[in-house]
Amino acid sequence: MTSTDSAQQPADTPAKAPAKDPWDLPDVSGLVVGVLGGTGPQGKGLAYRLARAGQKVIIGSRAAERAQAAAEELGHGVEGADNAECARRSDIVIVAVPWEGHGKTLEALREDLAGKLVVDCVNPLGFDKKGAYALKPEEGSAAEQAAALLPDSRVTAAFHHLSAVLLENPDIDEIDTDVMVLGEVRADVEIVQALAGRIPGMRGIFAGRLRNAHQVESLVANLISVNRRYKAHAGLRVTDV
Ligand SMILES: NC(=O)c1ccc[n+]([C@@H]2O[C@H](COP(=O)([O-])OP(=O)(O)OC[C@H]3O[C@@H](n4cnc5c(N)ncnc54)[C@H](OP(=O)(O)O)[C@@H]3O)[C@@H](O)[C@H]2O)c1
Repeated sequence: MTSTDSAQQPADTPAKAPAKDPWDLPDVSGLVVGVLGGTGPQGKGLAYRLARAGQKVIIGSRAAERAQAAAEELGHGVEGADNAECARRSDIVIVAVPWEGHGKTLEALREDLAGKLVVDCVNPLGFDKKGAYALKPEEGSAAEQAAALLPDSRVTAAFHHLSAVLLENPDIDEIDTDVMVLGEVRADVEIVQALAGRIPGMRGIFAGRLRNAHQVESLVANLISVNRRYKAHAGLRVTDV
């Protein structure tokens, strides 16, 4: 048995009800997805993939007209609005702004995001002549900063390891990758897993609570190294699940 197994239980543990099938995920097709910072490559790429899969998507921006222009470019019924309206009109809100603007953006949108399922995909990274490296946010991770700033929202983290280049390429039909989804409330995590699963080729995999988001965010520095070495747009697969 390896140290990553969780099946080490004493022999006298009482029998539990059979566990729910972890792949039995909710139907999220009717939920509206907003993307804060949706005019950048990651937000636009995700908006495009989700809208192409049939999801209603609203792109957010600091300037409504930039969002509307980006939405028009994407088609598939995508709409554009300023970040606050995008948050208010959406059920699920993906945060796709740069780390530098993360705290301020969320703080300003606290009320607009109240009650919403927030999905943080922000990777706090620094770059120097040796390449990319992980920054260490005071709260532990970008996702934990979001949770601290948004006490009335349901904060999760996902979509960190995607290549915006692949997401945005209309000639690619399937995105060959798993998406690690983190959060505190199982029902919320399952909604995000289901959302990832709407994109052909993608699976959303539960990957722990927000206190473990730092490693997931940081791993992007390693993926950037992989991409540079192999001239690739690497994704991740979790095996044996
Ligand atoms: N690019 C990828 O492949 C990738 C993959 C996974 C995760 N991510 C994460 O996704 C996030 C977005 O990545 P990106 O490459 O799309 O970033 P980006 O292009 O630098 O920024 C996205 C959008 O955020 C808005 N923005 C810029 N500075 C801001 C600030 N200081 N405050 C608030 N909003 C600001 C801009 O939109 P407006 O000017 O229209 O407001 C911009 O178009 C990052 O945190 C990144 O770590 C990226």
